[in-house]
Amino acid sequence: MQVKVVIGTITFMLTMMIMGFAALREPARLEKFSHAFEGRSIESGARIYAGNCATCHGVSGKGEECYDTGGNQIGCRGLPLNYAPLLCGDNSDRTARMNAMNWASTKDAFIESVVAAGRAGTAMPVWSAQFGGPMREDEIKNTVAFILNWESDDLCSEPVVTFDWPATAQGLVDEFPDGDAANGEALFVSYGCSGCHGVPDGSIPAAVGPDLSNIAVDGATRVDGYSAAMYVYESILDPNAFIAEECPTGPCLGPPSAMLANFGERMAENPQDMADILAYLLGE
Ligand code: HEC
Ligand code: HEC
Repeated sequence: MQVKVVIGTITFMLTMMIMGFAALREPARLEKFSHAFEGRSIESGARIYAGNCATCHGVSGKGEECYDTGGNQIGCRGLPLNYAPLLCGDNSDRTARMNAMNWASTKDAFIESVVAAGRAGTAMPVWSAQFGGPMREDEIKNTVAFILNWESDDLCSEPVVTFDWPATAQGLVDEFPDGDAANGEALFVSYGCSGCHGVPDGSIPAAVGPDLSNIAVDGATRVDGYSAAMYVYESILDPNAFIAEECPTGPCLGPPSAMLANFGERMAENPQDMADILAYLLGE
């Protein structure tokens, strides 16, 4: 009888010790588990991204390197996603891009909402099954986790370069008088203009935006009082200011325009690029 009580007591104490120990380790185990879960979610998001998003946003999300299904490099058609204005937020979790888009909620919700619902009137498709797209809720979440994972100290400590664009095309020409048309031709491809507008010499037909082969003449007829140079200049900086009528697939949609609205930001590092593209398109 005595022995049984002693054994019982010891067993009880041992059980309590083991359970207590397990309980102490629980937070660490949970953290490890959630890291592993997050890792798997990002990995799965990476696969989804490569298969569905890279053709428009670029292989590394920089809006620079895009390929068609045959492996040929093409112009990107989507905004960069792996860049500071979208990902580098202040402590209230709002980034420059969200302020520009008047978004009041968090960064995660901003990205998730665009991925889920697409952006009407632009090339960005709907992805969530909830809105008739091809992806499940968990697939959307994994893709968003993959995009958010691009935020890094390196990315967010890069200085943001800005440039005050002159109000008129003439103002730009005064500042950069030597537009180089040959370089403009190369830039027209590397900025991705040709991905939508084709190449004005006709070697690649326009697909999304108007054919620009005659814009040096037509450009002067679009907006009262604008020269062709002024019109093209404004079209690049602010595609929504005026929506052209005829696109290759029918009437152009917008506003918002299907043309990306971030060329002013992208050319801020090198405003001479704008002068070169104008020289190319206007044949000067
Ligand atoms: C057919 C081209 C195309 C595909 C494919 C595409 N996107 Fe987009 N995406 C765009 C365009 C164009 C925009 C910019 C729309 C605009 O002008 O506001 C955009 C915008 C976005 C934005 C908002 C960026 C911002 O700063 O406002 C996110 C996030 C995004 N896409 C994620 C994705 C993800 C994730 C996928 C894959 C599941 C994807 N996109 C596939 C064309 C595409
Ligand atoms: C994602 C596709 C896309 C990209 C990339 C793009 N555009 Fe456009 N662009 C359009 C569409 C669509 C329109 C017509 C709607 C409008 O007027 O905004 C347009 C309109 C224009 C117009 C006015 C055309 C007219 O007939 O009135 C000019 C000029 C122009 N784009 C120049 C450029 C240049 C230069 C680049 C590269 C720096 C560029 N675009 C990049 C889609 C694009």
